[in-house]
Amino acid sequence: MQKQNDKPQNKNNEQLNGSLRPKTLEDYFFGGAIKNKLFSSLKIFLQAARERKEALDHVLFYGPPGLGKTTLAHILAQEMNVQIKITSGPAIERTGDLASILTNLEEGDILFIDEIHRLNKAVEETMYPAMEDFCLDIILGKGPSAQTIRLDLPRFTIVGATTRAGLLSAPLRGRFGVTHRLDFFNKDDLTRIAKRSVGLLDLHVTPSACEEIAKCCRGTPRIVNHLIKRVRDYSQVKKQENITSEIVREALKMLEVDDMGLNKIDQMYLDILIRKFQGGPVGLSTLCSAMAEDPGTLEDVIEPFLLQKGLIKKTTQGRVAAIKAYEHLGVHFPNQGSIL
Ligand SMILES: Nc1ncnc2c1ncn2[C@@H]1O[C@H](COP(=O)(O)OP(=O)(O)OP(=O)(O)O)[C@@H](O)[C@H]1O
Ligand SMILES: [Mg+2]
Repeated sequence: MQKQNDKPQNKNNEQLNGSLRPKTLEDYFFGGAIKNKLFSSLKIFLQAARERKEALDHVLFYGPPGLGKTTLAHILAQEMNVQIKITSGPAIERTGDLASILTNLEEGDILFIDEIHRLNKAVEETMYPAMEDFCLDIILGKGPSAQTIRLDLPRFTIVGATTRAGLLSAPLRGRFGVTHRLDFFNKDDLTRIAKRSVGLLDLHVTPSACEEIAKCCRGTPRIVNHLIKRVRDYSQVKKQENITSEIVREALKMLEVDDMGLNKIDQMYLDILIRKFQGGPVGLSTLCSAMAEDPGTLEDVIEPFLLQKGLIKKTTQGRVAAIKAYEHLGVHFPNQGSIL
């Protein structure tokens, strides 16, 4: 039920997303209840830098969307008590843009560069000495009279985020002292996240309904929060103040999310792969044309989860559907040697 005054329900979506975002490392990992090596290593890394009163080493987070790369960048700034400036690879078009961003940083500041794989070559090369030696080589003028001047920069930290670590050049990747891959969350951890979010939204959701949501969110905290908001809409309109697993299942059915948590696009992917291409192998571009999706979405958003669930396999000849995908779709698995 909606409540009066300053309850989060009355905030707009952006404020809501902000309020659901964990603010500290303890918050993100539920005080260590989420068992992840990242928690202990980041804790040590942060404490060591704080004790030495030094800027953090450069950090790279990579992994599928919605797992917490941006959230962790903010958490690092909060834990270090420094400012965070936010930009993204495609936004830094020229070396001059980078120079102005870097010269405006203060000692210890974090520069968060989202989609860092999309930095252009010239900007990337200017970043090398900036990241390693904290200096910037600027060329003034053109032709024979051109001069190079070297600017000293404060010691800052770059936190890079990307869904495509493979597209990062080796020299850029090598300049990050700390590199972490974020993986899909397990069901228990997602249930914790769901319980935390429903608490913050002041919703009455039964523990089994939280588990139901956790089961269907593609291992991704962002989807947990989206599903909670859609379930909230559904229960509000259906005048059901108490959100039970029944309500969650009805809402998920309406959203066309199946019991494995696959959404409409995932289902379409498997359907096309199995029914149209007889389970593959099929090349990425053919699959993209058949689905009317771009390769980036397929590779970054759709496939990582299907791979993790063992529904598909990437081979040198192309994508192949696994037996599990046939079973999931209720399609008879042909006994061919070429298929897994
Ligand atoms: N451990 C967590 N506990 C609770 N909520 C979380 C957690 N991790 C992430 N979230 C939520 O998931 C949402 C997505 O996180 P975030 O924006 O950091 O993902 P991202 O990895 O940067 O995604 P993208 O690649 O799309 O930029 C955030 O709104 C945040 O509230
Ligand atoms: Mg992000």
